[in-house]
Amino acid sequence: MNPPRIILLSLLLVAAVQGSPPRNGTKQVPVVIWHGMGDCCCNPISMGSVKKLIEDTNPGTYVHSLKLGASITKDIEHGFFANVNELVYMACIKIKNDPELVNGYNAIGFSQGAQFLVVQAQYWHDPKNVQEYKERSIFLADINNENKNNPTYKRNLLQLKNLVLIKFNQDHMVVPKESSWFGFYKDGDIDTILAMNETDLYTQDRIGLRKLNESGRLHFLSVDGDHLQVSREFLVDKIIKKYFM
Ligand SMILES: *[C@@H]1O[C@H](CO)[C@@H](O)[C@H](O)[C@H]1NC(C)=O
Ligand SMILES: *[C@@H]1O[C@H](CO)[C@@H](O)[C@H](O)[C@H]1NC(C)=O
Ligand SMILES: *[C@@H]1O[C@H](CO)[C@@H](O)[C@H](O)[C@H]1NC(C)=O
Repeated sequence: MNPPRIILLSLLLVAAVQGSPPRNGTKQVPVVIWHGMGDCCCNPISMGSVKKLIEDTNPGTYVHSLKLGASITKDIEHGFFANVNELVYMACIKIKNDPELVNGYNAIGFSQGAQFLVVQAQYWHDPKNVQEYKERSIFLADINNENKNNPTYKRNLLQLKNLVLIKFNQDHMVVPKESSWFGFYKDGDIDTILAMNETDLYTQDRIGLRKLNESGRLHFLSVDGDHLQVSREFLVDKIIKKYFM
């Protein structure tokens, strides 16, 4: 595959959704974790340790780390080979079927990871050929409402209490790294990167980003370091304590 490879959605995001669960300490808001590609729900050195970090920081929190497939092996394989729309569908079913989550939850998603660079054409957004991208991309163009306008996406995004986007300042997996904050190349020009608020996605408010921001619910964090090089302190202080408690 030819470089440059461009990945959107490779962001660490945190979102609190639905309802207003009790916040008086009697019942913690549950947390859903969505692992990145090549990883799986329960690896003790990655998602397992994030789960534990959340449980230790906010005791009593129910944490559901999504396993997308009947087994750990399937979970990992799906990350590589499944259609992204199917993965999203599987995640929705898991969430819907978990009775602990019916009153709302916080969610933290990790980038789809390094392996994107080798396989995931689904995430390919070619700035030099916007028309082809719109026609062919089965996921991004759709989810970004670039072909037709699906009002459900916007409605759903606007149900979030907060959307926190985390950019890694020395990221070399996510290209351009600004896409973690919804920035992207100007159409047809890979030398110019537009900030989120200079993109049509934002100015036309196709998916609700503008409204989220204007209602104070869109947050931008940056971390010095390469892709997902995030410290426990950052996760605890800037994410868990701030948004999950
Ligand atoms: C905490 O909030 C829940 C839900 O609003 C309520 O049922 C419960 O009585 C509250 N507990 C205390 C100690 O305030
Ligand atoms: C875009 O956002 C930045 C940061 O909040 C702000 O300084 C700038 O004025 C905004 N630009 C536009 C065109 O709204
Ligand atoms: C978000 O909204 C605020 C207030 O409306 C504005 O000042 C800021 O520039 C916006 N941020 C971006 C990135 O556009």
